[in-house]
Amino acid sequence: VTRESLEAPAAASPAAWARALLDAQAAAGLLRVPRTRHGGSGSHAVVDGRHVTVFSSNDYLGLAAHPAVRAAAAEAARTAGAGSTGSRHLSGCHASINALESELAAFEGAETATIAPSGYAANVATLQALGGPDAVILSDERNHASIIDGCRLSRAHVEVFAHADLDDLERRLRRSTARSIIVSDSVFSVDGTIADVAGLAELAHRHGAWLVLDEAHATGVLGPGGRGAAAAAGIDPRDDTVVRVVTMSKALGAGGAAVCASATVRGVLLQRGRALIFSTALPHPTVAAARAALTTLRENPDLVDHLRANVATLRGALDELDPTGAAEVPIVPLLTGDPHLASRLEASLLERGHLVQAVRPPTVPTGTSRLRLTVSAAHTTEELQALAADIVELSAAA
Ligand SMILES: Cc1ncc(COP(=O)(O)O)c(C=O)c1O
Repeated sequence: VTRESLEAPAAASPAAWARALLDAQAAAGLLRVPRTRHGGSGSHAVVDGRHVTVFSSNDYLGLAAHPAVRAAAAEAARTAGAGSTGSRHLSGCHASINALESELAAFEGAETATIAPSGYAANVATLQALGGPDAVILSDERNHASIIDGCRLSRAHVEVFAHADLDDLERRLRRSTARSIIVSDSVFSVDGTIADVAGLAELAHRHGAWLVLDEAHATGVLGPGGRGAAAAAGIDPRDDTVVRVVTMSKALGAGGAAVCASATVRGVLLQRGRALIFSTALPHPTVAAARAALTTLRENPDLVDHLRANVATLRGALDELDPTGAAEVPIVPLLTGDPHLASRLEASLLERGHLVQAVRPPTVPTGTSRLRLTVSAAHTTEELQALAADIVELSAAA
């Protein structure tokens, strides 16, 4: 299931082992060095002393710095406090968390929504709670790291099917004699592609399997009013074999995630989902921010249309470079193959005032390094066109 990072050679001491690991990553052009950003969460920031437009965040609707969302978070901190003081099992479930769960469930048309501290925790908790030694989990080979880790923690037998290959998935389902759980990203976060959600659901039904969908990059982006890829594919939101992980950390601009599922699955999560039982619940300002963001999205579905128009503008302006990914997805990958070239382009674009992200192994398979551009409803047409013009010019010179 894994794309492991480079292994360091055996070394004389623990510290020497760690040094050798970092040296090996650096020599391969794979060292991750986060940049320091000033100026908050809007689409403009100061990075390495330079004023930039941000094309690398997951704030697809521009809600992270929206006035109503900021005001709600500030008010919650003033009236309720900062931290939630414990998990819901330990110190009581704050009523605001129950309210957010009801609002999210209503928005998604689901029977229930159960909040986890992050999308990462929601995926891990779901797979570990539904899994077990009597289960087989069938996982797309390009699934997010949190799904891979959830598979590992589930103690289930894990089968990795070829990316988006429903024939391979079905062959494996036919062979399986155990209880089956299919799991897939609905939008693949570094490829910008959309899973065949209807096909996955059909296979799940035919083979009596659960279908777990990670809607992290589909919520607020795809489907009617931003209700996600399952909604776009016409999946009944009350289908009790489908479990959808919806994050509030990306298009909703806040933090945390919710597992949208039947009341029975919620019950199982609250008994067995260790990543949400043994972790502090979301802080009050985050809950309030997510509620305000959801209200803003519900009342302004044109935000999603505006995002789609911006995506079309950037993809159109980059046409000659053949961006990959689905037309309506705001993740726009430009393949370079070579990790050094991806990093050089990232640095040159930063000098010109555009913050973009180079994605390299082990996040993506060797030979498929890329620039990952993300579009927001907060970007102006001029900003999108300026980014595209600079990328076209720098790529021609590279
Ligand atoms: C596909 C996918 N799933 C889950 C997550 C984790 O979500 P969170 O950042 O809320 O932990 C991410 C974010 O990195 C993601 O891209």
